[in-house]
Amino acid sequence: MVYDTRIISDSDEDLQYAAQLIKDGKIVGMPTETVYGLAADALNPSAVADIFKAKGRPQDNPLIVHLASADDIDKYTQNIPETAYRLAEMFCPGPLTMVLPKRECIPDITSAGLDTVGIRIPADSTARRFIAACGTPIAAPSANLSGSPSPTTAKHVFQDMQGRIPAIIDGGSCCVGVESTVVSFEGDNIVLLRPGFISPEELSAAGEVIIGKGITEAVSDGEIVRSPGMKYKHYSPKANVTIIEGSSEKYAEYVISKNEIGTAAMCFASETSELERCGVKCVPYGNTSEEQAQLLFLRLRECDELGFKQVYAHCPEKNGVGLAVYNRLLRAAGFEVIKL
Ligand code: TXA
Ligand code: MG
Repeated sequence: MVYDTRIISDSDEDLQYAAQLIKDGKIVGMPTETVYGLAADALNPSAVADIFKAKGRPQDNPLIVHLASADDIDKYTQNIPETAYRLAEMFCPGPLTMVLPKRECIPDITSAGLDTVGIRIPADSTARRFIAACGTPIAAPSANLSGSPSPTTAKHVFQDMQGRIPAIIDGGSCCVGVESTVVSFEGDNIVLLRPGFISPEELSAAGEVIIGKGITEAVSDGEIVRSPGMKYKHYSPKANVTIIEGSSEKYAEYVISKNEIGTAAMCFASETSELERCGVKCVPYGNTSEEQAQLLFLRLRECDELGFKQVYAHCPEKNGVGLAVYNRLLRAAGFEVIKL
């Protein structure tokens, strides 16, 4: 089916309209504080199947189930560890997904056949009003085509999903900009499956944190990972992305030496003027890790719009939310890093 995709507002009336689409088994683009999601009724297997189709997503990659309130967590999950309750108290609502043993009511297609389900309560008020209006848990992956950078505006969702879904709720730019922190539990320990705005340092207030496989190194073919999403190449613009690790001076020297038509520097904002003075095209992505998280996907999309062939990204910090930025960049770069 080809839709005439509409961008709608976050007014009560438009949210009611979007909620009716969900009740009718359709898919809606939904803002959250992290990135936009492709929302469908998590309990409706055929609506969930349509999410996989719209995204071109591999069937073995489970979806996150979004709830309007943390009070609903035990309706959909069971045997919840104490550590999860502590995390929920600290970070829900917020950019955190907890992988927990699922109850029967969650269809296999939603959890990709796993006996666990990822649960998240978004902090974004439009998202929560929308989920509450739907009256059902909402399955939502990031609203990009599989492999592309995640969308942080309604326009990005439109670019990827035009004709594939009936409506997108416009909630403005996402304030976090990278997807939620995903954790699972082993005994009293917290296993970090995907870094996000909530950092390992913050998580460790609730229990010991184990860093899962695939976060800062590539996973080899056939290797088993706890989070299926970590296997796939991701977030990649059409340009070849290379991460350059080193001081601002060494980075500038390297990029200037490689500068040719079709090349761009995804640099820190503070490095722009020096590079531009030497004729390098810049796509600056902020100075602090928070700014970089917010701008990363937007800038990766711009690299395509501007038609760059080779992008040299200056390596971010690897702690705090910087770890999430580094992880997404690594995957955009296919793990290609040059250390100076
Ligand atoms: O911020 C976010 O989390 C956004 C917004 C829309 O909420 N959603 C999002 O969904 O990023 P998605 O599908 O693009 O990424 C979900 C990640 C994948 O890496 C997936 O493998 C992992 O979470 N995941 C989901 N359920 C899981 C489970 N039961 N066990 C292990 N990993 C799981
Ligand atoms: Mg995604």
